Amino acid sequence: CGIVGYVGPRAAAPLLIDGLKRLEYRGYDSAGVAVMNGKVETRKAAGKIARLESVIGQQPVHGTVGIAHTRWATHGAPNERNAHPHVDEKSEVAVVHNGIIENATALRTLLEQTGHTFTSETDTEVLAHLIEASYDGCLEDAVLEALHLVDGTYGIAVVHAKEPNKIVAARKGSPLLVGVGDGEYFVASDASAILNSTRNVVYLDDGELAVVTRDGYKIMSLDARELVKEVNRIEWDLDEIERGGFPHFMLKEIFEQPQTLENTMRGRVILEEGFTKLGGLNLTKEQLLAIDSITITACGTSWHSALIGEMMIEELCRIPVEVEYASEYRYRNPIVSPNTLVIVISQSGETADTLAAMREAKRRGARTLGLVNVVGSTIAREDDGGVYLHAGPEIGVASTKAFTSQVVALALFTLKLARLRNLGIERGREIAQALLRLPGQVQSILDRADEIQELADQFKNAHNFLYLGRGYNFPTALEGALKLKEISYIHAEGYPAAEMKHGPIALIDDLMPVVVVAPHDSVFDKVVSNVQEVKARKGRVIGITTRDEESLAGKLDYEFRIPETVDMLMPILASVPLQLLAYYIAVKRGCNVDQPRNLAKSVTVE
Ligand code: G6P
Repeated sequence: CGIVGYVGPRAAAPLLIDGLKRLEYRGYDSAGVAVMNGKVETRKAAGKIARLESVIGQQPVHGTVGIAHTRWATHGAPNERNAHPHVDEKSEVAVVHNGIIENATALRTLLEQTGHTFTSETDTEVLAHLIEASYDGCLEDAVLEALHLVDGTYGIAVVHAKEPNKIVAARKGSPLLVGVGDGEYFVASDASAILNSTRNVVYLDDGELAVVTRDGYKIMSLDARELVKEVNRIEWDLDEIERGGFPHFMLKEIFEQPQTLENTMRGRVILEEGFTKLGGLNLTKEQLLAIDSITITACGTSWHSALIGEMMIEELCRIPVEVEYASEYRYRNPIVSPNTLVIVISQSGETADTLAAMREAKRRGARTLGLVNVVGSTIAREDDGGVYLHAGPEIGVASTKAFTSQVVALALFTLKLARLRNLGIERGREIAQALLRLPGQVQSILDRADEIQELADQFKNAHNFLYLGRGYNFPTALEGALKLKEISYIHAEGYPAAEMKHGPIALIDDLMPVVVVAPHDSVFDKVVSNVQEVKARKGRVIGITTRDEESLAGKLDYEFRIPETVDMLMPILASVPLQLLAYYIAVKRGCNVDQPRNLAKSVTVE
């Protein structure tokens, strides 16, 4: 998750540790350093950087060149063995890596066949062995050769015992920069790591490699052409950089969604077959086919994605699905048959009620499947199989990018199960295609965030909000309302649009904003009738729509258009403007959006 490297006259270890601490806000679960001292010496620890510091305190590492890393686990549990840097068996090469090597399993098999022994479960270790195998006296040449064999994304920093004054760094899809100091140089994934020492940086672009020594640095393309790059001066303060220039983590996370959705799908969608590949399910085809009932359990926002999952699975797989709040499930007497699958959804993987519900399900003999973002979290360790979200650390307390990734993960699972059972290839391809289009579509919504900001201005002083939707977008309405109440403290309710007339309609007057999620889907005409009911009572209607609809003419006070997709994926597109609306209203009301009062990011108590 975070990379720091140093070449210069000063002792490397304290500078590296200081740099890692400045990256702590990104979230991580283990850390390590490698310092050049005649050979490559590594120190690693699971858990907080303070633990790494005490390891180094007991076994100091002396040297003035080194690389360091904080890891947020993707492949393999967050323990000391899987912490970076990773070394080859001779301990000559050390690598730190952000990103995912997609063909790691194949490369690992090949390397093992040629005598390499692996000590971790990570995809990164493959790089260390590849570079060692290619090394012939020049580290940058060996790195270039290794990178040509690798598919996936990376930001890496590499050192070699035979060239003790050099760091080679390369980037594809994961940020990296070179820090230019006075007689010293840095490598970092994020400028905040080095800002104490220098404000001059050279940003690497994808497909570029940097060679950094005591005497200077050079930047090259992956075909070994030398490049001339501009040195940028950083004028921002530390706090701003950590949020990537965004005023809040929540806004940063909302804007990250094109990438996070892509990361959730990476390597998992097989377009031609309209099928998906989910390596972590730990279920054979026979076991998948034998599932005769599914329960999905979760809390908060994750419970909303569960509701969408229920509809997807029932529609496409024809298996009965129950959704339960984890806090309720754990104390009921739920029905579990030998062929019941219990899906547990949790961003953190640590929510106490969700964990207890999963343990209860296991006790009753259900197979459990975790949809979790934090790798190596308790739920991820204890479930029988899982689908990691790969959405990256979510810091804002109100969940945004984890929610949309959960819905995508549920769609990936549904598509797999449906295609094994009764879904035709054409429909399968249509859904796969729609999935792959999502990142670009979300980006097109984000590009129009200013429209939502204007809308927020109109409604920031409201005391109540109603959110309505039907079908797949009833949960979208619940999630929209939850976002608003969590961070702006405005009372908001989500309701199935038609059910409104059995209660909330009593609240509607000319002060009541009503957000209606009305894409052109199979229940569109029904939603129009409900909009009419609101209008007849002078409610102020904000419509989230997908096309110019004659039947809505004159009925919406405000309208925000989103792109079209298949019905089951519409909640992903529709929730992005609702996230933005909640965010901008909260900011305009002066609320602490990243840490709203009374709420916790991960509720580890009952
Ligand atoms: C807390 C958070 C919510 C989150 C819920 C479930 O209440 O504030 O944003 O949706 O917990 O968390 P989980 O990590 O299990 O998804």
